[in-house]
Parts: sequence; structure tokens; C-alpha cells
Amino acid sequence: MTQYLASRKAAVRPSPTIELALKLQQMKAEGHDIISLGQGELDFATPEHIAEAGIAAIRGGQTKYTASSGTPELKAAIAAKFERENGLSYKPSQIIAGNGAKQLVFNALMATLDAGDEVIIPAPYWVSYPDMVSLAGGTPVIAPCTAANGWKLTPETLAAALTPKTKWVLLNSPNNPTGALYSEADIAALCKVLADHHTLIMADDIYELVVHEGSFATPAAVAPELADRILTVNGVSKGYAMTGWRLGYAAGPEWLVRAMDILQSQSTSNPSAISQAATVAALTAPADFLPERNARLKARRDMVIAAIDKMPGITCATPPASFYVFPDCTGLFGARTPEGKVIESDMDVADFLLTEGRIGVVPGSAFGTPGYLRLAYALDDARLEEAMQRAIAALETLQLAVPA
Ligand SMILES: Cc1ncc(COP(=O)(O)O)c(C=O)c1O
Repeated sequence: MTQYLASRKAAVRPSPTIELALKLQQMKAEGHDIISLGQGELDFATPEHIAEAGIAAIRGGQTKYTASSGTPELKAAIAAKFERENGLSYKPSQIIAGNGAKQLVFNALMATLDAGDEVIIPAPYWVSYPDMVSLAGGTPVIAPCTAANGWKLTPETLAAALTPKTKWVLLNSPNNPTGALYSEADIAALCKVLADHHTLIMADDIYELVVHEGSFATPAAVAPELADRILTVNGVSKGYAMTGWRLGYAAGPEWLVRAMDILQSQSTSNPSAISQAATVAALTAPADFLPERNARLKARRDMVIAAIDKMPGITCATPPASFYVFPDCTGLFGARTPEGKVIESDMDVADFLLTEGRIGVVPGSAFGTPGYLRLAYALDDARLEEAMQRAIAALETLQLAVPA
């Protein structure tokens, strides 16, 4: 019956890790105790005062449609957040709320891309970017970044990727999957390259609040002269542990935000009125729960890095932000499992860790960078420690091609 599918559907690839994900689900269903380090979501609960605001919204009857781009109260809270935390001034007409940052990235691409338009995506990238670009009819142009450069896009690589067809450059800091954090100077150097190229710039700041070392910076604040081409995307999913509430927001030039709003009004309409009310509470009250949560995350990160140091064939630098580590597993290539299978790729490493270690990790191939793994340390300390012990024990059964 696939003849019923639109050709548009072909633009979206099945995830390269689908088989691995299915195997994990199957092993779980068979009763195996699998620890998944694959989820890009914090184990923390939504802070109490935010949850209460959601409950109060339901009880108070805030259960109707709102303006498709969000309530005036929410837009005011978002504008105040940008002003207070980023030094950016936006009018309500420059702000839109949607069903997660994801929908806003999608709407922005749908509103602007024509066939042949190119979008520069630094790799490793968030898995959804290339498919969203393709779905919107554009062409993803992958700009590779290296571990040696802290996984950050360099001005030279950016300059080499730009063509007259480039319509967008997607920047994501703190980064998923690497945990890279672009400094003000890093962003200024990229913006300098972009000054003479009339591309749009998307700053995906969704991990803004999860920083362990260094300071967060955002392109619209670093290069205000480019602000009329910058869309800043953010949301409450990561910093406020609100993934399930589905509330993201974006701010940028009025013409773009209006176009995104029109698309949204003819597809999903407003994000949940209840989530909007909860987000007003999130953005207006002091985030005093954050230092303690981030300290816990940092301790977990350090524990994971220390454990990786004990893993034969795997190496990892300490990432300054987000809740991911992105270790190099190429030292395992050529290794032989006790069953005699030879490990040849990051997919094989992830499969081995699942089968033998009963832990789930995501191969770097999913993020456009084979030879690496992504581990999310967003689960409780005891389980995380157990996962690391399992990984070490499983990897020690391998016969390495080049002994560690
Ligand atoms: C880089 C990046 N951008 C955007 C999102 C989407 O976040 P939201 O839950 O707000 O849709 C994610 C979620 O994993 C992400 O990693």
C-alpha cells in the first residue's frame, strides 16, 4: 500500500539506528534489564511551582484556544527573559511560541526554503535537522567539525560551505550531541564570515541553561548588526525539565515570525494553553533550582568521563555543557568479541554494548559523525554508575586489534 505515500515522505530517512532501537525495545520486552543512555531528556521532575501553575491553569479554565503564536502573557514573559538573560529586545510581534523548539525550527524552514536552497548544518548535528531541511524541500549541506577543535564549526569550514544558494546556517550551542559550547569569540568569528553573506542564521539555544564550564553566548547578542537575519530558538524542555509539556519559543525578524505563525495557525494552532501558563511561571520566577541540578549533572558527567578513561579502546574529552558525552570508539575497530565477531563500526560498538553490556547508547552515525557514541547522563546516579560498570565489564571481554 506504499503507493499511497507522498513523494515528500521519501525526503525523510528512516533513522540509521532504528534496528538498534528495535533490538533495545525487544530485549526490554523480553525482560532484560537494559539501562538506556539514549534519551535526550532529564530525569528530573518539572519544578513544583511550574507544575502548580499548570494545574492552576486547568482549574482556572485556561483551557481554550489562544492566539496561535501564544498568549500576550507568555510573549511578555519571553520578551522579559530575552531582555534579562540575553540583553535582547523583541516586540511581541517578533515572538512566537510553539509545540517545542522542534516545531519552531520546522516552521522556520518550511516558511523559507525553496527547492535548491542550501542549509549549512555543522556535524555532529541534532538528528532532526537534515530531515527537516529535506522535508521542507531544501538541501542539507553538512559542515564537519572535529574533536580537536572542541567539536565547534570553524570560520574556515563555514566559509568553504557557503554558496550563493545558502539560505540558512544552523548553529546549536550548547550542542547536542557533543556538549560543545561556543564562546562569544567563537560566535563573533562565525558572524564575521556571515556579515557579507545574506543567509539567515538560526541559533538553537535549547540547552542554554545546562552549562558546566564557560559562559553561554547567543549570536543575536554577539552580532546585533546581523539581528535582522537571526532567528533565536529556545524553550523550556531541557533547562526546566519540561520535555512533555511541549513548549518552545522563537524570536527574530517580524516578517519571518509572521510567516511561521501563518503556517502554525493552519497546522497545529497554539501550543497547549496549560503549558503556556506553566511556562509563564517558569520564565518569571527565579530559576533557583538550577545550580543544584546542574551541580548534580556535572558530578555525573565527571563520573562518566572517569569511567570512560577506564574503558579499553574508548576516549573522550570533557564537554563543557549539555548532558551528553561524545566519546571516540574507533580504538575498538578490529576488536574481536568472545563470539569471534569483529567490531567494525560505531554501530557494532553500540550493538555490542547492548547485547553484552545491556546498555543503550546512540552511535555517532546518527549525528552524521561515525566512529563515536553519544551517551546521555540524564539518569539517576546509581543507574548511571551501574551502566558504566557494565560497559567496562563488557569491553574488557574484547580482544583489541591494538592492545590498549
Ligand atoms: C538541539 C536540539 N534542538 C531542539 C530540540 C527540541 O526540543 P523541544 O523539546 O523543545 O522540541 C532538541 C531535543 O532533543 C535538541 O536536542
